[in-house]
Amino acid sequence: MANTIKEEVFNTTIDGKSVKLFWLQRKDLKMAMTNYGGRIISLFVMDKNGNRIDVNIGRGNIKEYIESPEAYFGATIGRVGNRIANGRFSINGDEYALPTNDNKNTLHGGYKGFQDVVWDAEQPDGHTLILAYTSPDMEEGFPGNLQAKVTYSITENNAVRIEYEATTDKPTVVNLTNHAYFNLNGEGSGTILDHKLQINADRFTPVDSGLIPTGELREVASTPFDFRKQHTIGERIEVANEQLEFGNGYDHNYVLNGDENGLHHAAKVIGDKSGVVMEVFTEEPGIQFYSGNFMDSKNTLKSGAKDDFRTAFCLETQHFPDSPNQPEFPSIQLNPGDIYHTVTEYRFSVR
Ligand code: BGC
Repeated sequence: MANTIKEEVFNTTIDGKSVKLFWLQRKDLKMAMTNYGGRIISLFVMDKNGNRIDVNIGRGNIKEYIESPEAYFGATIGRVGNRIANGRFSINGDEYALPTNDNKNTLHGGYKGFQDVVWDAEQPDGHTLILAYTSPDMEEGFPGNLQAKVTYSITENNAVRIEYEATTDKPTVVNLTNHAYFNLNGEGSGTILDHKLQINADRFTPVDSGLIPTGELREVASTPFDFRKQHTIGERIEVANEQLEFGNGYDHNYVLNGDENGLHHAAKVIGDKSGVVMEVFTEEPGIQFYSGNFMDSKNTLKSGAKDDFRTAFCLETQHFPDSPNQPEFPSIQLNPGDIYHTVTEYRFSVR
């Protein structure tokens, strides 16, 4: 697949800050990013025939990213990924109200989350990009000046590694992730329903009709949510199931098995046409599997294809949605003096 990125259309100034395109490359992996929202624009990997294909869905210029904020294409997400019920939570008895940008809930950090800010960028070598952003006290309703640093790099073993760090000067909540949309057959190559997926989770967090977790950790056994053994994404997506109805498909947080204090194997996906294999490793306790159910052909992608229904999927590593209001879930509170630090890797191979 030809490189469809026009470099110059990514050079601009927003909020007085310089926005640029950055290339990260090592061996077979080549990734284009912008510091506008810390976004992955393209990710070129080798397919089974030795061709380079772009497995990350993205748009062709910054203006288009600004015009499609609801998709979060490839973006670094913060301060809190996924939903907070009714845009409300409290910390140590202090109540906070957030803008509600997803019906009555707050999604992915509010209207102007980290996907819409310009990050300071530094490129120490050809395969690393260090992004830094200071989110001021009460930005989008969240307390504390939060200093966030996210390092994107391509590793020796063919992985995109994302290292998230943050500190605060007041107690706050933090749950950072990346919202890359993948199609392992290549952007614009049609549905992802025939991709094979495996998720290393015995349980998931069922939701209400507003996609807020009910608090239950439900066994996946005997449900269409069981991906402990490999299934195609589409195999059970249309079966009658209340949870699938609420998400209009898969849009759920999985409770990952494995060591909470180390990089563990979360998921594996295989592109049915390309043979591209993507494995996700993370230190996070959860992963949001989103099967592109809200993609509605409204946006033109950089390849010229539309963002048609279920032509990409997301696997967003995270703490569980609505954690600030769910005392039984692992906490996302960050206190002054603490260091938020978490790593996720997307490793690529072919078969
Ligand atoms: C959410 C979806 C949402 C999508 C936005 C995902 O992380 O779980 O509900 O529609 O992001 O693009």
